[in-house]
Amino acid sequence: MALKSIIYNRETNNLEILDQLLLPAITKYVKVKGVEDGWKVINKMQVRGAPAIAIVGCLSLAVELQNDKFESKKQFRQEVEGKLNYLVSSRPTAVNMKTAAEELIDLVNELSKDGSVSLEDMKNKFLITIQQMLEKDIADNQAIGDNGAKEILSKVAGDSQVRVITHCNTGSLATAGYGTALGVIRSLQAARRLEHVYCTETRPYNQGARLTAFELIHEKIPATLVCDSMVAALMKSRNISAVVVGADRVAANGDTANKIGTYQMAVVAKYHGVPFYVAAPFTSIDSKVTSGEHIVIEERPDREMTHVGEHRIAAKGIQCWNPAFDVTPASLIAGIITEKGVFRPDQLKDVFASANP
Ligand code: MRU
Repeated sequence: MALKSIIYNRETNNLEILDQLLLPAITKYVKVKGVEDGWKVINKMQVRGAPAIAIVGCLSLAVELQNDKFESKKQFRQEVEGKLNYLVSSRPTAVNMKTAAEELIDLVNELSKDGSVSLEDMKNKFLITIQQMLEKDIADNQAIGDNGAKEILSKVAGDSQVRVITHCNTGSLATAGYGTALGVIRSLQAARRLEHVYCTETRPYNQGARLTAFELIHEKIPATLVCDSMVAALMKSRNISAVVVGADRVAANGDTANKIGTYQMAVVAKYHGVPFYVAAPFTSIDSKVTSGEHIVIEERPDREMTHVGEHRIAAKGIQCWNPAFDVTPASLIAGIITEKGVFRPDQLKDVFASANP
């Protein structure tokens, strides 16, 4: 059975997330009772990964709204808007929460203006829409997986098997299920065309060593862990077929913000002639941001670098720089694998415009 990072039951109004700070040692679910809890579990990275952040944020609002009583549609609308904007502030780089917030704010504005919709209907419609986001994310990821597997296989001779590298964690734990880049790897494995996957440790937070390795073992996918600094040597020696990573925000020109270390992998891939793919749903594309230069990069506490658990590994007194993400220029990206197909970065603008007329 696939790992489940989010458990939600609308009937019982229960939301729980798998605490990713405790993995892989301890499997423990934490209850999220409302927006304040939602903001905290995202900010502390008990749940992480761009799609999972958006889904948990929105579901935390759903849980709170089910318990709250409202006097009027106006009050409902104001509360929803304020809380969504607050949730967007929990982590700045991943765009999915912002995209979801904008969509939901548009929906409450529309419902609030529609005289034929009662307060009860408005609340109901709103909660259903949030639940649909969860279901849509899984379906989108399966489509991303299949599109990505097809694309990677189209570049290799005959029916030979492929060897891929991935970075950070983009699997079931980072999404509502199946995963994005890890979804592509899952689909390659399902097609019996995956020889091996190499996952990077992903310093300093070790999402690769802790979470991706955990998922790959759970799924019985043949995999090897490497340190981030081994990627160039790996590409030189192991005949790698492709690199596939996720995204926190894709700008309109295709520049992509993703976990720190992604950019250097793309540079190395270009040097070795290995195709470098970004796998992400349309909700990760920010058509309002023209290029990567305008993407705000979250900086995290020094402690994530200086310590492993409670143990200090860095010399006391050293200064640290800890950006959580970097931006890979579009020119290094062979394709952006989405639920609607695989696009070159320069095709993105037109595709986005036709998908959102
Ligand atoms: O800081 P994190 O762990 O939230 O960063 C996660 C990533 O960078 C992922 O690659 C990205 O969010 C895509 S997850 C499907």
